[in-house]
Amino acid sequence: MGKLAINSGKPVRTKKWPEWPVYDERELRMLEEVLRSRRWGGGLGKSEEKESELERKFAQFHDCKYGICICNGTAALHVALMAAGVGKGDEVIVPAITWRATGTAVMMVGAVPILVDIDPETYCLDANRIEEALTERTKAIIPVYNYGSSPDMDRIMEIAEDNDLVVIEDCARAHGFRWKNRSVGSIGDMGCFSFQQGKFMTAGEGGMIITNSCEYMEKCHSIKDCGRIREGDQYSIGSLNWFNYRMTQFQAAILLVQLTRLAEQMERRDSNSRYLSERLEEIDGVEPIRIEPRLTKRHPWPFAFKYDPKQFNGASVGRICEALRAEGIPCDEIDLPLYDQIVFIKGTLPYHLYVEEKEKIRKRCPVADEAPRKTISIPQWVFLGTKSDMDDIVEAIIKIKENADEL
Ligand SMILES: Cc1ncc(COP(=O)(O)O)c(C=O)c1O
Repeated sequence: MGKLAINSGKPVRTKKWPEWPVYDERELRMLEEVLRSRRWGGGLGKSEEKESELERKFAQFHDCKYGICICNGTAALHVALMAAGVGKGDEVIVPAITWRATGTAVMMVGAVPILVDIDPETYCLDANRIEEALTERTKAIIPVYNYGSSPDMDRIMEIAEDNDLVVIEDCARAHGFRWKNRSVGSIGDMGCFSFQQGKFMTAGEGGMIITNSCEYMEKCHSIKDCGRIREGDQYSIGSLNWFNYRMTQFQAAILLVQLTRLAEQMERRDSNSRYLSERLEEIDGVEPIRIEPRLTKRHPWPFAFKYDPKQFNGASVGRICEALRAEGIPCDEIDLPLYDQIVFIKGTLPYHLYVEEKEKIRKRCPVADEAPRKTISIPQWVFLGTKSDMDDIVEAIIKIKENADEL
């Protein structure tokens, strides 16, 4: 029997963590209201009542004129790309590490995701590496807010302006974030959110596009609603009309209540995660992902920290995660670079770039290539707890480091 809980030692923590998702009587009442209304589906040619209220309130919360409810975040990216006219043969800049949907949405419109390395400190798209990746085929950039941090949005907007590129912000992990007091999702042309189970607001599944452009708003509504043209819409005639990506009224109803908790939960997560970052900095060989200081509101999705394997007896990320979980700390590995995450279709250009020429890409993205081997993530709901919960995380990491010979 060792000291570490993976070797039958006493775990640092057996107490429960905050439960996720959070709900109360209000969600139950809203769901009952929709049920009794017998209007369950997304509106045809016009947003239904709850959808329409959510579109207005969510967009307002994020400094935008318009919101478009969508069935999930992947579909939101797909619709936004189509509305922006990105299509076959075009290239779209995406960060080398993100959830695969950022890259697959690009391929869903027949375009090619061009992977650009991540910044070594924030782990978000490295704006200084974008220009070298541009070609005459580049149509758009998809910056992603990851790890409660942000890419350099000022620089990205400058590059987009200079090169006439569309910016679609992937805010799937960034509800409520503000960049220099301006809401994310309102900085570029469109912002895409996810309401999947683990996100800051959830209806199990769901998505939203926000924008200040009337043209993009109309096109997005039409594309996600099988091509129906809404009253007064002058932009969507002739748009592609293949998809039913509507959100149900049940989803919209739950999300209306979830939105009312967002600001308070964001404060709590932000405060706890900053405290944890400070405490982790005290441990030699451990380094939290840097919070971009121009973010004036943010919370972590997920929280992530790097560790130096040499100070942990050479243990792999997988082994450290096992050890942490045994000590009672929820954690996971981070997303792999897209070239190791997506299954590419043989014979396509992305297959050639990311499977046949993989070694070239690895060399072009050294930060992303190495990051998963030395980074551990902690889910967002852990940060709804208390400072003393954060102390448990620190205690577990120190314990594992001090007994690393047992790993
Ligand atoms: C960065 C990012 N983009 C897009 C998505 C896609 O969202 P969804 O799961 O709702 O389709 C996710 C969700 O996991 C994500 O994390």
